[in-house]
Amino acid sequence: MKPWHDLTGHVAIVTGGNAGIGLGMARGLCRSGAAIAIWGTNADRNAAAVRELAGIGGDDRVTAMTVDVSDEDAVDDGVARTAQHFGAVDSCFVNAGVGGHVDDIEAQETADWHRTLAVNLHGAFHTMRAAARELRTQRRGGSLVVTSSLGALDGMPRNVSYAASKGAVISMVRSLAVELARDAIRVNALVPGWIDTAMTQPMLATSAVNQKILPRIPLRRWGTPDDFESTAVWLASPGSTYLTGQTIVLDGGYSI
Ligand code: NAI
Repeated sequence: MKPWHDLTGHVAIVTGGNAGIGLGMARGLCRSGAAIAIWGTNADRNAAAVRELAGIGGDDRVTAMTVDVSDEDAVDDGVARTAQHFGAVDSCFVNAGVGGHVDDIEAQETADWHRTLAVNLHGAFHTMRAAARELRTQRRGGSLVVTSSLGALDGMPRNVSYAASKGAVISMVRSLAVELARDAIRVNALVPGWIDTAMTQPMLATSAVNQKILPRIPLRRWGTPDDFESTAVWLASPGSTYLTGQTIVLDGGYSI
C-alpha cells in the first residue's frame, strides 16, 4: 500500500491557485504526485504559476485555466475541462477570494457588498456545486476544501461583506458534509490566520498593524503560503479520510 501522502493518480483543482495560499497548496499537492488544475482570472499569473509547478511535477501534471469563479458557466466549464484533461477530479480547493471593502457600515456601498459576495460566496457555491456534480458522477468519493477566514469566527469590524462571505461558507461546508457523506465526499473548511500574501501585504507592511498583530501570534511569525503545502496534501488524501464538516484553523495560535 502506498503512503497516505503519495497522491500519484490524484487530480486536484485549486481555485485562486496562481498566487498566495492557493499556490502554496498547489505546490504541496504537486510535490506529493497529484495532477493539478489551477484556476485564476489573470492569464499571466496563471502562466507563471504553471511554470513554477511544472518545475516540481513536470508539464503533464499541471494545467491552468482562466476561470472567474463568479461566473457559473465558466465554473461548470472549468470542472468539465479539468475532468476531460486529466480523466477525473478527486479534490477541489475552493480558495479564490477577494478582500472586501474596508469602511464603516454607513459608508459601505451595495455594489461593494455584491462584489465581495460574488467571488467569496457565490464563487464558492458555483465551484462546490460543479465539483460535487462531477465527484458524484465519478462515484469514487472525493474532498472539497473551502478557504474561510478568522473573520468568520471572530468577526471583522469595518469589513462586513468579507466576514459575512467567509462565515457563510462555513455553514455551507457543514451542510454539504452531511449531504455528500453518503457518496464518500468529504467537505471541510480551512481557516488561515495572518498569512503573508498580496491580499494582506498592505496591512502587514505597516508597522502599526505589525505591532498589534505579531505579539498576539504565539508562534511569533506571520504564516506563509508554504504553511499550506502539507495541510492541503493531508486534506486531499486518505490521511484525512474520517474528517468531514470541520473547520481547520491554521494561524500559529493567534485565535487561542
Ligand atoms: P491572493 O490575493 O494572493 O490570492 C487570491 C487568489 O484568488 C488569486 O489567485 C486571485 O487570482 C484569485 N481570484 C480572485 N478573484 C477571483 C475570481 N473572481 N475568480 C477566480 N480567481 C479569483 O490572496 P490569498 O491571501 O492567497 O487568499 C487566498 C484565500 O485565502 C482567499 O479566499 C482569502 O480570502 C483567504 N484568506 C487569506 C488570508 C490571509 O491572511 N492572506 C486570511 C484568511 C483567509
